[in-house]
This record gives sequence, C-alpha cells and structure tokens, in this order.
Amino acid sequence: MPLDIVIGTQWGDEGKGRAVDLLAQDSHLVARYNGGDNAGHTVTVADKIYKLHVIPTGVIHPQTICILGNGMVVNPYTVIEEMDMLRSAGIEINPDRLMISDAAQLITPGHRLLDRAQDAALGKNQIGTTGRGIGPAYVDKAARSGLRVGEILDRQSFADRLRAHFIEINKLLTILYSQPEIDVELYTSDYLEKAEMIRPYIKRIGPEIQAALKVGKIVLAEGAQGSLLDLEQGSYPFVTSSCTTAAGIFSGLGIGIQAVRKVIGVTKAFQTRVGSGPFPTEQTAEIAEFLRGSGSKPWDEFGTTTGRPRRVGWLDLVLLKYAQEINGITELFLTKLDILSGLEQIQVCVAYEKQGRRLDTLDFSCDAQSLAQCVPVYESLPGWQEDLSRCRRWRDLPVNARVYVETLEQKTGVPIRTISVGSERTATIYRE
Ligand code: IMP
Repeated sequence: MPLDIVIGTQWGDEGKGRAVDLLAQDSHLVARYNGGDNAGHTVTVADKIYKLHVIPTGVIHPQTICILGNGMVVNPYTVIEEMDMLRSAGIEINPDRLMISDAAQLITPGHRLLDRAQDAALGKNQIGTTGRGIGPAYVDKAARSGLRVGEILDRQSFADRLRAHFIEINKLLTILYSQPEIDVELYTSDYLEKAEMIRPYIKRIGPEIQAALKVGKIVLAEGAQGSLLDLEQGSYPFVTSSCTTAAGIFSGLGIGIQAVRKVIGVTKAFQTRVGSGPFPTEQTAEIAEFLRGSGSKPWDEFGTTTGRPRRVGWLDLVLLKYAQEINGITELFLTKLDILSGLEQIQVCVAYEKQGRRLDTLDFSCDAQSLAQCVPVYESLPGWQEDLSRCRRWRDLPVNARVYVETLEQKTGVPIRTISVGSERTATIYRE
C-alpha cells in the first residue's frame, strides 16, 4: 500500500512542484488534498514552464491519474483555465485521468470578494491572503452551509443554492464591509455555465484511491502551502485555512494511515514567506536582494499566485525540526541550493533565544505571538563561489556545498536524499 507524501516544511513555496514532478514519474495516482488555487506549483521541463494552482503537478506525466481531493476548495474558473492551458501544451485531459471529489467545496467569486474585503478590513493586522477566497470557502464548510462540488450534478437545486449563496454574500459585502452589491442573477448564470464544464470530472474519489493502494500502485499526495501555514500547527493567525501537514491527507482524501511509505519534506536552502506574520530569520538588506533575485527569472522569489515579492531570510533549523516532528518526515528534498552560490558565509539558524533561554527546538506552540519573541542564534558556514547548475552527482558539488547539506542533515537527523540545483527537471542530484 505505497502512499508517498510530499509536504512543504516552511511557509510554502519550497519547490514542491519540482519534487512532485520527479516523483510522479513512478506514480499511478497524484492527489491534492488541501487548499485551492492559492497554491502555485511550478515545473520546468526543457523550455516549457508549467504553473499550476489547482490541478496536481503530476498531470504533466501522461500515465498519472490526478485527483482533487475532498479536503480541497475548488474554483471551477481556475480548473477550466488550467485544463485549457494544459491542453494547449499538448497534455491530455479527460475524465479518466482528472477527477474532482464530489465532496470538495466550491469557491465562488463571492468568496473571493469577501476574502479581499475581510483582509483589507483588518488594516495593519492583515493576514495578506492570496485573495483567492480560501478562508471564506472553508468558513462556509465549517458552518455546514458550503456548496459542494457534487451539488453541480443537480442543476436546478444547485442554481437555487447558488442564488441563495450570492444573496448571502451581498449581505456580508454591503452591511459589514460597505462594498458594492454584486448582480446575483449574472453571477449565478455565469457560475452555472462554468460548473457545467467540470461536471464530467466529478467523482467519488475514495474508491479510486483505495483500489489503487490495494493493488500496490503508488499514490502520491501533493501537499499545498507549507507546514508553518497549517491552521492547527502553523504561525496562527498568519496561516491558511486548511490542514497543510501530512495529517490532512487522511481526511482530505479519505484514506487510512497504514498506507504511508515515505513522507518527503521539501525545504528550500533558505527561508521565504509571503504575507504577514513572524519570520525570525528574515533579512532585509543586500542579502535579501541576493536571495530573492530581481524578478527577471521565473525562479526568483516572487509569488506564483500573486506576484508579490517574497520575504526572504536564512534557513531556520528550529522550524525545520518542528516541521519534521509534526509531519513524521522520513527524508528531505532540498531545493535551490544553487541560489546560495557566491556568498562568502552562509548563516543557519540553529537555535532561538527567547526570554533569556536558549531553545534548540520549539517548546511552545508555533503561534505568531510566541514566534515573534524569538531571536535566532546563527551558526556561520563557509560559502562557495562555483555555479552548481551543472552538478548532477554528489561529488560534483564543491566541498563547502556538501558541508552545508551535511550540516543540515546532522542537525535535523533526517537524510537529504534529493537536491535540486536549477529549475529544470534534470538539474537534480540523487543521493544514496
Ligand atoms: P490564503 O491561503 O489565501 O488564505 O492566505 C493565507 C496566508 O497563506 C497568506 O500569508 C498567504 O500569503 C499564504 N499562502 C497561501 N497559499 C500560499 C502558497 O501556496 N505559498 C505561500 N504562501 C501561501
């Protein structure tokens, strides 16, 4: 029963798309289980760059079946856009290889408007959401009033439910947030048209996944966002509204825990964050510009979903160890090691100082208030000047790059099995 899990260990944008793309080569089924089109997974194959927000990255491999799990919030507009983009890139999309859980929740344009109005109303306490309607859609789910994908199958009652939803959104927008009203009939008819286009892809996905696992086919769970954005374990309230950790897979796909084979934690060689919230190792001066890049290259640190410049800083091993604990990570996939080339010294946060005490691991919940009181304790490692983008074997790496990787392994106690040194699929080093 081989279930492999790909999890982000930071605040998202670790390069999970890169890891999933490589692992999907040997997988039968690739499933997303949380979040929605707030995610942005990028894969580069030869001269083609695929940016996916909602359809699993594994779709690029023709043998995979791709699933949007019940734990997700699904915006049909984005699904259709991505299907079109993939088809025009020559990738086959049909209901035999793309399935959307009937129990997933729907995101509407009303949720998006509400998301933006709510976040703006927080003023200086803004979360800095992606504005994709994620929070409001999950609120509706928890309130048991959300629209489920399976409702699309009964067009008449779905139209009534949609109308009622947009009327409710209007009340919230106008009364609470002084926003203009939306045209309920226009929004309803447009949404019905889009919903009709995803109708053939709606399925009960549980049996599909169970059947694959029973016959020993590899199922790959593609996490979205990162562990530190998890609603339960992340830097609350500066988090997303879903379970981004490995725990979310079981409820988000409807499978049991015994199937797990590997939990692969994807970690960038430095730290980034989009939106507000504490970031102990954040850098603002030249080093920030160095790590972020200018924005001229697709892999520079600017949001795939929002285009916002990402906040950047040194790798934080206290948080990496925390992510490892809460996910049960069995191996690490290190991305963007090549970006560190050219630095004289590289800092790594190995502990925190909090109220006069040294902490090697978190002894408090990762909430924003506690994290904001932590001052990083750094260890300085020698950098390297060589370009790594052509390295394909461990021994091709300069000695200081190897020392950097080995230090991370030694401090976390988790093997780093894969290292990416460029955005292209082949720019990868596999280790024994
Ligand atoms: P939301 O998920 O749009 O509600 O945004 C909540 C927080 O999570 C914000 O700080 C976003 O910037 C962040 N966030 C959501 N999705 C991603 C992602 O895929 N990568 C990085 N940050 C994300």
